[in-house]
Amino acid sequence: MDKDDWSFGESWRVEPSDPTWTGTQTAIKEQRVEEWDDETLVLGIETSCDETSASVVRGGRDILSNVIASQTELHGEYGGIVPEVAARAHVEALTPAIREALVRADATFWDLDAVAVTLGPGLIGSLLVGVAEAKAIASVLDIPFVGVNHLEAHIYSNFLGNYSAKWPAVVLVISGGHTMLVHARGHGDYEILGGTLDDAAGEAFDKVARFLGLDYPGGPEIDRLSLLGNPDAVRFPRSMVGEPGFDVSYSGLKTSVTNYVRRLEYEGNEINVADVAASFQQAVVDIEVAKTLAAVDHTMVDTLFLCGGVAANSGLRTGLEKACLDRSITLHVPPIELCTDNAAMVASCGTALLRRGIYTSLDAAPDPNLPLK
Ligand code: KG4
Ligand code: ZN
Repeated sequence: MDKDDWSFGESWRVEPSDPTWTGTQTAIKEQRVEEWDDETLVLGIETSCDETSASVVRGGRDILSNVIASQTELHGEYGGIVPEVAARAHVEALTPAIREALVRADATFWDLDAVAVTLGPGLIGSLLVGVAEAKAIASVLDIPFVGVNHLEAHIYSNFLGNYSAKWPAVVLVISGGHTMLVHARGHGDYEILGGTLDDAAGEAFDKVARFLGLDYPGGPEIDRLSLLGNPDAVRFPRSMVGEPGFDVSYSGLKTSVTNYVRRLEYEGNEINVADVAASFQQAVVDIEVAKTLAAVDHTMVDTLFLCGGVAANSGLRTGLEKACLDRSITLHVPPIELCTDNAAMVASCGTALLRRGIYTSLDAAPDPNLPLK
């Protein structure tokens, strides 16, 4: 549907705050999406992986609340995410999270202008929980429902509370499920320049951490331990760095770490886990900084967005900050709590979609492999 064909004129919602409201009437909200002002309130819902999150965002940029119920303790004993456990935990946590998000935002359901939810990619059982609840809320309130791509939502974490973030930009999306470099020319105008050929960076962090006997999730553990270790202690390979293109690969690096540790064990030598963690992290940082700078050069943009769970990594943040400073590139890095999965970024992305007249049918099904387009 063309965006001009759709307006809120068709949409009805109850207004219990209206003194003439008797409990049976409805009122028309006539404001068109294109004219949404900074007061627009969107409820975001995120359940694609192991974080249950609900958030109320005003005008696509101001976070009124961002409730995140993490399942890390539940999955910790298994050393990784168990999809069935994740889906069941979302069922329990989502409704209280939404209630809490509304309370913290000092809002009611009737203040909401739309509901945005992650439609994919992610774990199908987990996605279904959020999508079903978002559809129920949207249909009861008769407000627009918008399904959001999780990767696009990560990109929008750069716009939350940050009015200086502007397109076009190169975006490094680096998380537990994905690692890719994107040339983002504007809202919805994305070109994927390259990505991982095997593990996502976060996945490599988690697997190496598990091998080193650290807790789940491994990324923050390696990050913490790296501060105590020497990043130059072991020179692990920086695969594909000298090669053209923007793809990366982590399987060789992972194997090098395990081979190194096993060799020391075999030789009866003591292993300095902090040095191994710091050296591994430094290899990841060097690979990502090199490929990201190459992408910036290639696209000739002067803005870089960093996002995704691994964007919380202190080494990566420092490495990119330094590299960008040296080259006069404007770097935007979301605060740590917006790097990992959260519903505020979903609400922000959903608001941008709705402003362009894009919304989702209530028939839409979640897609575990939803591509970024
Ligand atoms: O974006 P996210 O919350 O979920 C996905 O969409 O995948 O990312 C989770 C990933 C996990 O692999 C976790 O280990 C990693 O982000 N991560 C980190 C750090 N914090 C989270 N990796 C390295 N350093 C960190 N500080
Ligand atoms: Zn994510």
